[in-house]
Amino acid sequence: MRMGNAGRSPAGTAEEARESDALLDVRGLTVTYSASRRNHVNVVHDVDFSISSGEAFGLVGESGSGKSSIARALMHLSSASGEVEFDGVSWLRQRGRPLRRLRAGMQMVFQDPYASLDPRMTVRALIREPLDINRIGAQQERRERVDELLELVGLTSEQGDRKPSALSGGQRQRIAIARALALDPKLIVLDEPISSLDVSIQAQVLNLLTELRERIGLTYLFIVHDLVVAEYFCDRIAVLFGGRIVETGPSAEIFGSPLHPYSRDLVSATPLPDPTQRRPLSGRSTKETVIAPPNAGCPYQNRCALRNGRDRCVTEVPLPRPGPRGQLVACHFFEEESREG
Ligand SMILES: Nc1ncnc2c1ncn2[C@@H]1O[C@H](COP(=O)(O)OP(=O)(O)O)[C@@H](O)[C@H]1O
Ligand code: SF4
Ligand SMILES: [Mg+2]
Repeated sequence: MRMGNAGRSPAGTAEEARESDALLDVRGLTVTYSASRRNHVNVVHDVDFSISSGEAFGLVGESGSGKSSIARALMHLSSASGEVEFDGVSWLRQRGRPLRRLRAGMQMVFQDPYASLDPRMTVRALIREPLDINRIGAQQERRERVDELLELVGLTSEQGDRKPSALSGGQRQRIAIARALALDPKLIVLDEPISSLDVSIQAQVLNLLTELRERIGLTYLFIVHDLVVAEYFCDRIAVLFGGRIVETGPSAEIFGSPLHPYSRDLVSATPLPDPTQRRPLSGRSTKETVIAPPNAGCPYQNRCALRNGRDRCVTEVPLPRPGPRGQLVACHFFEEESREG
């Protein structure tokens, strides 16, 4: 069953996704917040994407574009509608005990590791907690698993006996990653996992995530506002603006030849370092400007250089259409820009 946009989605049709090895298939995801019983606001509209097993898929967009809302909806933490298939099950419909069991497969790492860790617990207890809650293994097995997880995320046995406050920000994020790994998930949702860390530590955590992906075959949904990091880390990327995906495609295409006016604006404003010198640490942050998107038509109409006063941009939400190299672009006129550019 499909909700939301008719026509092609930025990640291909649902049928195509199912034929491929999509681990996560999101169709028509709409996230709603309720200020009161009568006052509801949609902050994510009809979002479609799919992630293959083993892939690192990036969600980029400025602050307020809806990235965390998508993550929270996938984790059943926000009210959402649409169709999400994860590992062969209809994900958003799961409730109660079946959901608790299935949840092991999808885990999340938040931006601020400190906020998500109980300061009274030792690192070992924090890492063991998911095993305790889900009653996995006997005591001895849990101890061994915690040792294994400490090693996996590059923490020493001695650090395992400390409280999180005794460790650095990067080490605390390693604890959060170990907790996310404890239940052997297939997919990890990473919501700006390095944004709160010192620049000198960011590359270390990014390298750890890369290493873990290779070592245990993880799949990532990686939320990031730094385009340089997104290009470095992700195989494919969806660019979000005003709660809608405006362009999806292979990272190399999004950065090499972006087609949507918003993607083009973002990329042209990002000083990409020489790849041989690359440090995925700097670059323009998409956090800088926040303008509320309009209620109708294209979300980018108020900032778009390509619009040229055309009514269609104001009256009709652009549906994603294929570009020449695997991209899908939600702009009525993107071919014009690509011909000129
Ligand atoms: N709990 C909430 N209640 C109401 N509105 C919210 C809530 N959380 C986020 N929003 C709004 O939803 C929009 C998207 O926010 P968010 O998903 O956090 O964006 P991002 O992660 O891209 O910065 C923003 O306009 C934000 O103000
Ligand atoms: S649909 Fe119109 S306003 Fe939106 S990005 Fe394309 S040209 Fe610009
Ligand atoms: Mg966020």
